[in-house]
Amino acid sequence: MKKSELNVAMIGYAFMGKAHSNAFLCANRFFDLPVKFNMTIICGRTEKNVRQVQKKWGWQQYSRDWKEVVRRNDIDVVDVATPNNIHVPIIIEAAKRGKHILCEKPLGISVAECKKAVEAVKKAKVHHMIWHNYRKAPALSLAKRLINEGRLGTIYHVRAVFLQDWIIDPKYPLVWRLKSEESGSGTHGDICVHLIDAARFLVGEMKEVTGMVETFIKERPLPDDPRKKGKVTVDDMSSFLCRFENDAVGVFEATRFAPGRKAHNKIEVNGSKGSLVWCSEDLNYLEFYSKDDPKHMRGFRKIMATEAVHPYLKGYWPPGHSISYEHTFINALVDFAHAFARGENPSPNLEDGLKNQIVLEAVLKSAQTKQWIQLS
Ligand SMILES: NC(=O)c1ccc[n+]([C@@H]2O[C@H](COP(=O)([O-])OP(=O)(O)OC[C@H]3O[C@@H](n4cnc5c(N)ncnc54)[C@H](O)[C@@H]3O)[C@@H](O)[C@H]2O)c1
Repeated sequence: MKKSELNVAMIGYAFMGKAHSNAFLCANRFFDLPVKFNMTIICGRTEKNVRQVQKKWGWQQYSRDWKEVVRRNDIDVVDVATPNNIHVPIIIEAAKRGKHILCEKPLGISVAECKKAVEAVKKAKVHHMIWHNYRKAPALSLAKRLINEGRLGTIYHVRAVFLQDWIIDPKYPLVWRLKSEESGSGTHGDICVHLIDAARFLVGEMKEVTGMVETFIKERPLPDDPRKKGKVTVDDMSSFLCRFENDAVGVFEATRFAPGRKAHNKIEVNGSKGSLVWCSEDLNYLEFYSKDDPKHMRGFRKIMATEAVHPYLKGYWPPGHSISYEHTFINALVDFAHAFARGENPSPNLEDGLKNQIVLEAVLKSAQTKQWIQLS
């Protein structure tokens, strides 16, 4: 018998902790789902902060020790929203105890450890999901539908950028995202991975890549003692070219050094019959150009994906009432709940996390060797 209520333990309470708390709080309110999510326990390192977040978002209990949390018999789902280096250790311990897994991206810090995470969830036969939330924007899901319907014809190009500027000041401290031991890679695993996931979602698997990375600011002040500096051990930008298995080609660029750009996550796909453009900063809209339109009317149309026929929208508002970043996390949980009830895993899941990691690592290897790398 499948459970109809799932007790959730969330590890990590900060940026993603907030996005996930909101999703757990709202999913059953906006949608009639086959399972109910109970916000049972939240976990983080700093007692004062974790207690504050527990109260604010309505978690029933808090803990400071993720190992103790994943051992509890009353927990069904472990949600991982911590720095990247402890994703896989938490997944392995939790899966061993039969917990279903929700994990933030990137899945881990290396292909080798991501493989262990996938082995662990498969061996334990637990359900799993990776929070690649941008796939869950209705307009990007619509893009996938239009491609599947053949409206773009043969796909030739994918062009994707994720541009930010938050560390351009050399005085910005050496936070965990800038240290390879905690983060794996830098901009690459943090935001280029979203582009990789979106491209795989829309166009399919990649077969070869060649890339470059650069670290512009090599040392930064330590967070606890700004008079001292530490070494930045990850990339500040990454870019790469790829060829897809269907022979389409891709150009990708991610950076935290584009002044004025905050979270400019944009993907364009060109095919023999048309083009699509989606940007997270305008996430309700999909631009679509079709060569099937009469010649005198051709041009990009901007489709506002807020109708009930668009993915996920039935649960929210009447047409024209926009949704936003936080709803993409709710939508991910909606897919998880339905997949869980069917006895399946949602898409994307930890296997996608591994596939994304294989691309990430191949790009880094190519940047080092200055070679094209085949993805077998
Ligand atoms: N999907 C997205 O759009 C998106 C956006 C931002 C971050 N992320 C991913 O989410 C994850 C978390 O990022 P964030 O921005 O929330 O980071 P953050 O620094 O804001 O929060 C990290 C949290 O992890 C907790 N933590 C760290 N070590 C811990 C430990 N040993 N035990 C328990 N808790 C621990 C911290 O207390 C904190 O609450 C990362 O993997 C990141 O790549 C995804």
